[in-house]
Parts: sequence; C-alpha cells; structure tokens
Amino acid sequence: MSVIAVVGAQWGDEGKGRVVDYLADDADLVIRYGGGNNAGHTVVNAHGHFKLHLIPSGIFHPRTRNLLGNGVVIHPPALVGEIGELALAGFDASNLFISDRAHLVMPYHVLLDQLEERERGAAKLGTTSRGIGPAYVDKVARRGIRVVDLMEPDAFRARLDATLVHVRRQVAACLAAVRADPELESAVAEATDATAITDAYLAAAETLRVHVVDGQVVVDEALAGGERILLEGQLGTMRDIDWGVYPYVTSSSPIPGGASIGAGLPAVAIDQVLGVAKAYTTAVGSGPLPTELDDATGEALRERGMEYGTSTGRARRCGWYDAVAVRFSVRLAGYSSIALTKLDVLDGFEAIRVGVAYRDPLDDREWGTVPASASVYERLVPVYEDLPGWQADTTACRTWEALPQAARAYVERLEELAGVPISHISVGPERAQMIVR
Ligand code: IMP
Repeated sequence: MSVIAVVGAQWGDEGKGRVVDYLADDADLVIRYGGGNNAGHTVVNAHGHFKLHLIPSGIFHPRTRNLLGNGVVIHPPALVGEIGELALAGFDASNLFISDRAHLVMPYHVLLDQLEERERGAAKLGTTSRGIGPAYVDKVARRGIRVVDLMEPDAFRARLDATLVHVRRQVAACLAAVRADPELESAVAEATDATAITDAYLAAAETLRVHVVDGQVVVDEALAGGERILLEGQLGTMRDIDWGVYPYVTSSSPIPGGASIGAGLPAVAIDQVLGVAKAYTTAVGSGPLPTELDDATGEALRERGMEYGTSTGRARRCGWYDAVAVRFSVRLAGYSSIALTKLDVLDGFEAIRVGVAYRDPLDDREWGTVPASASVYERLVPVYEDLPGWQADTTACRTWEALPQAARAYVERLEELAGVPISHISVGPERAQMIVR
C-alpha cells in the first residue's frame, strides 16, 4: 500500500474510525479530507474508549502523523477541547498537523445552522447544528476565514469585521422568519460579538499554532518518500453534496473525488479505496431511508448496535442492509474492496433481510439505483431477499473459517450484490475483533 482512501459506503457512521484505527498501525500519515466536528468516530483501543470529532483516528499511533486537510472545516475552540481531552488520556497530540488552508467554523455559522433549521420547520434537514453547512457556504461565497488568517491577528480581525457585515444581514433575515425568544436574542448577540469572537479564537490560535502547516508540503514529502498514507473519509456517499439524497446531504464530498481535493494530493496518487459498510443500515438526520424499520426489529438493531450518534447523541434510524445504496456507492467510489462492520450485531436474528432493489408503488416499476429526486426516493419501497440468521456469537471469531456458515453465506451474498470483495469483517469494537480475508 501507499495511498489508501477509507470511504463511507452508506449514510455515515459505518465504522470508518475503527477501520482507520486498525489500518493506522501501518500508516505514516492519516489525513482527514472533509467535514468538521459534525463527524463522530468512536475508537476503542488499549488506551480506552474515545469519541473523536475532528482529530483523525491515527492519533493513537505515536509514529503516525495526522493531518486535518484543507477540505476540513475547523472550529478552533472545539479542536482545542479535543486536544485537551486527549492530553487527559496521556496523548500530547504532537503528531497532529493542521492545514493552513482549512476554513474555520465561526460561532455565527453554528447560530445560522440552528436558525436555518428552525426556519425550515417540518422540512428541516436534521443537521448536526455544528455550523458545517454555513461554514462551507462562506467558503464557496469567498468570505470564509481560514486557518492561515487565524495565525495573523490583524488579518483575522479584518476578515472578521468584513464578514460580520454580511452575517448580521443574514441573521436579521433569519430572525424575521422565526419566532424570537430571549434565549435566541442572547445567542445572536454572543455569536456576532466581534470582540468576544476575536478573544476566543485568537486564544485558541495560540494552542493550535504549533500544529499548523502547509498541508500540501507535508503530503508531498510523504508521497516523495513513498510513505503509507491513509485518507480518512467523513460521512458516506448517501450524504455526499453531489451524490447524496439532496437536500438531505452534508456540504462536502465524502467520495474519493473529494479526498484528492480535500487532502491535497493528485487523484492518481490514490492506489486503493476501501469502502466501509455496516452489516445493516443506519442514518441520523432527515430524508428517505427505504429499509428503515420502525418496529421492534429496528429497535433491536439500535440497542444491540448501540446506535446513538457520537457527536449529537441522537438515536440513529436503523434498518436492514440496503444493497442498492451500497452498489450506488461502489459505482461512484470504485472500491478495491469493502470492510463490513458490526456483523456481530446480527448474531441473534433468526432471519435477516437484505434490500436488493426498490419498487415504486405508483407504477410498479423496479429501481436498481438511487433516484435524484428525494420525493421519488421517499415513496420507493424495498424489495427484500431473506437469508437465514446464524444465531451464534461471532464476537470471538478471528478467522473467516471460524464464522458460522450462515454468516459466511450472508457476507458472500452482500459481496455478490456489491460486485467487489469484502476484505475485512468486524465482529466487535476492539482492534483485535477484525477478520481479514
Ligand atoms: P451537517 O453535516 O451537520 O450539515 O448535516 C447534514 C446531514 O448529515 C444530516 O442528515 C446529519 O445528520 C448528517 N451527518 C452529519 N454528520 C454526521 C455523522 O458524523 N454521522 C452521521 N450523519 C451525519
């Protein structure tokens, strides 16, 4: 291996963090290429149980350098908080690097994220309220503030003052559309207070300064030295800004095309793309989810899989594996192989269903792909194939042969439906609970 991208093949939360943590043993450089602290990676290792939001999962390997790429949006106080939590567990984060081209998430982005969701009412997107969307909007509108600006107090103040003129207009328009309350008023005052923002951000800058680099130089040196690089994706194809179920999407590109831009390396430098898919389906946030189960089975998946958001604590929506969504992702991402996570969560089921196609109840038409229209997608129903469960504990299995026959048959069927090999299977959160075929 030299450059491997680890990409979510579903709606996010597939277990990319634990896969990266596993692969990071062999990596010299791990790069996050998109998203912000809307992400949540749970990593369980010998040092404890960690919830990472911004910091790449390779941080626990002292030999591995970790870069927050230019495609990431960074909330400086949140990042300082995360570094502080690692310090409590004995990690000094000296192997963390931050691209000077990354954009900042500002307090008013968080406020606007919340106000815009209020304004959408019943049609809300279910964002993480971390200001991610508005931060990317400012980036594209060319009024964003970047890490490089944060390193220069005068440049930071000037850019902030200019941006706040626009932000205040935007906030006023949002406020006119929602029912104001005193709590909201104080939140608005706080999030648009130039002095308070400057003080908090410039203080965070002093902690972050030692980590800030020209990300492209770091990447280039690693490539020139033949180092092993892991590109750590955030979210999954179904939330991609271009390919996800619009508008129920995030504001960046989790697919490998986004990795090249957001990490700062040539697209042709990516040697291998590892897709990560959970053995069933979960999602947080709004939007169509054809195989969702609003019943005791869905509840059982949620409880056994401990499906609660790492960043927001929200209960995840759960359902059977959706082979159409994963195949869609395979086509867009070109996976070399797939890592299938949380197979053990299915241990107790007598029968297991797999969504192999969709059917439109209006005209009985069968769909083998994901439609562009969210309203069409909303009405599609899954066509299921039933497979026997194995009703045995797989958490102690360490080899392919050790898995029950029905579990192997399940994995083989998913492989057939995806059209690419399933190379890794996880049967628990610990680093050792990974079967490599
Ligand atoms: P945003 O990225 O906060 O704007 O949210 C956009 C959509 O992506 C919403 O449906 C969120 O629930 C979803 N989302 C954002 N981050 C995560 C994550 O880490 N895991 C799963 N879903 C996420």
